[in-house]
Amino acid sequence: MCGIVAYVGDKMAYPILIKGLQRLEYRGYDSAGIALLNSGIHTYKCLGKVNDLEMHAKGEPLSGTIGMGHTRWATHGEPSDANAHPHTSMNGKFTLVHNGIIENYAHLKKELELRGYQFRSDTDTEVLVNLIENIYLEQNVCAEIAVRLALSKVVGAYGLVISCADEQNQLIAARKGSPLVIGVGDKEYYLGSDASPIIEYTDRVIYLNDEDVAIITKDDLVLKNIQNDALKPKIQKIELTIDKINKGDYEHYMLKEIHEQPTSIGDTFRGRIAIDKSKIFLGGITDVMPKLTQAKRIIIAACGTSWHAAMVGEYLFEEFARLPVEVEYASEFRYRNPVITPDDVLIAISQSGETADTLAAIKMAKEKGATILGICNVVGSSIPRETDAGVYTHAGPEIGVASTKAFTSQVTVLAMMAFMLGRKRGSMYDQLYKELIQELTLVPEKIVSILKSESYIKEIAEKYKDATNSLYLGRGYLFPVALEGALKLKEISYIHAEGYPAAEMKHGPIALIDENMPVFVLATKDKSYEKIVSNIQEVKARSGKVIAIVTEGDETIKQLADHVIEVPDSHEAIAPLLTVVPLQIISYYIAVMRGCNVDQPRNLAKSVTVE
Ligand code: AGP
Ligand code: GLU
Repeated sequence: MCGIVAYVGDKMAYPILIKGLQRLEYRGYDSAGIALLNSGIHTYKCLGKVNDLEMHAKGEPLSGTIGMGHTRWATHGEPSDANAHPHTSMNGKFTLVHNGIIENYAHLKKELELRGYQFRSDTDTEVLVNLIENIYLEQNVCAEIAVRLALSKVVGAYGLVISCADEQNQLIAARKGSPLVIGVGDKEYYLGSDASPIIEYTDRVIYLNDEDVAIITKDDLVLKNIQNDALKPKIQKIELTIDKINKGDYEHYMLKEIHEQPTSIGDTFRGRIAIDKSKIFLGGITDVMPKLTQAKRIIIAACGTSWHAAMVGEYLFEEFARLPVEVEYASEFRYRNPVITPDDVLIAISQSGETADTLAAIKMAKEKGATILGICNVVGSSIPRETDAGVYTHAGPEIGVASTKAFTSQVTVLAMMAFMLGRKRGSMYDQLYKELIQELTLVPEKIVSILKSESYIKEIAEKYKDATNSLYLGRGYLFPVALEGALKLKEISYIHAEGYPAAEMKHGPIALIDENMPVFVLATKDKSYEKIVSNIQEVKARSGKVIAIVTEGDETIKQLADHVIEVPDSHEAIAPLLTVVPLQIISYYIAVMRGCNVDQPRNLAKSVTVE
């Protein structure tokens, strides 16, 4: 999920690697390292940023014209010196850097331990480097064959650069699910997770495809697939500036992260749903499952967008696991003197894992004897270190202050927890369990189809960019989405926006409705559909403007609303993951049209580490 850089040629590799890692700094990470090939493989790695790595390597020879570098966004194993990349195999034959997740690492690790392998880190990556070495030594094959044989045993995603101590004039690169780009120079090659570490040296690149394997020396590049079929490298020319590269084709990180949601949701359930979609396994909470299964109550504490995800979680846990749930603003909860018992489970949700109010709520609940779980996006951050167990969202670095992909990953984790718990508690029959798992796995492709409406949604945004107020309405699972949509608009466009349960309109807010009030209504097909249609009619009867998010093919609301944005049909429990996307896009374009600083809105910070 983070950054890889490598070089093969006649120049000193170290400065190229360090500069390349600095280029990848925007992706956010927790540790970094490099390896240099020069009569042996010399590795330097540590917790922290690239500057810390430079300090760590200061005074070392740092010579060599072949090398690799890595910035880590931890998925397996806390951020630490030992867990940082590059990783070297037990007998020193192979060293590699890895982006991605090896889903079957636990099984492979057990097999290697039976063969006498010992591990120095907690990462999935170290399992892979030892697997390659074990095949190399046991089957007495060359490095390239050992790599291809090992990768054929791997389930998961990888971008890899690999070196072999017995073949030090070459690097091997491989890709499946995590990007890798090769820069083509004159008797030299550069590698990067994206083109940012490469483009100052060459504009000729080869984008590796899934299951490609490249064997690279300074004079030659051989491209194959994992089945050993020879491939013809396709050299392309890139015309991108560094800034463009960091955001890809997107103007802002927020838009990039909205578009990353098919991938980030896929990474969230990667390795956690059985191949046959028959069951869910969340390794991070296995130890506390008895506590969860027998809990008398679940308290979910969070702030902001994470609190909105918690609200969706309340509906999920109560419907499928039949567990009483209380959702708490962490900032309020921590100062109350709530009644908490050892029969309670507190789930803290936080993208950054550093939100002071949420951290304080955890500490208070812990003192009162509750079991504490975390749902976080940053491995090794403060909140996971305070919890008894938890599930990482694996959404990758979220740079934009307005949270988007973290929200949908949080809801995905909550859905997996609720379905798994419901099955274990016997409150969810098998058929529905499997149906909902299937539905969850279809979300990425459904979001891809929603993203195709972006230009249509942008046209709608144009019509409401000058509004001074707005309302967001939803019922049931979609009420928290109304709250989230309102927060997105207000925090990046500075338009006052309020989310409300649609049924509450008649208790006051309907007085606000007039022709200047845009009302965004979450109105997909669910058990309260007829009622939300009535709410739309009530708004229209008072000249309000209605922008409705509807189920594809809905002709009824099309006759009533001023604009409709269609999303694919889904079970109502899955609908939050789909209906939030148009609201993210609308708020993004309104903010852009208003000239707001979308990625760093005024007065806000990405992580509120103060009270
Ligand atoms: C949401 O777009 C905001 N950035 C903010 O409300 C955020 O969700 C809140 O500060 C909680 O942050 P956390 O998830 O990192 O704890
Ligand atoms: N899964 C690997 C780890 O946790 C790679 C993480 C990354 O992509 O940075 O070390």
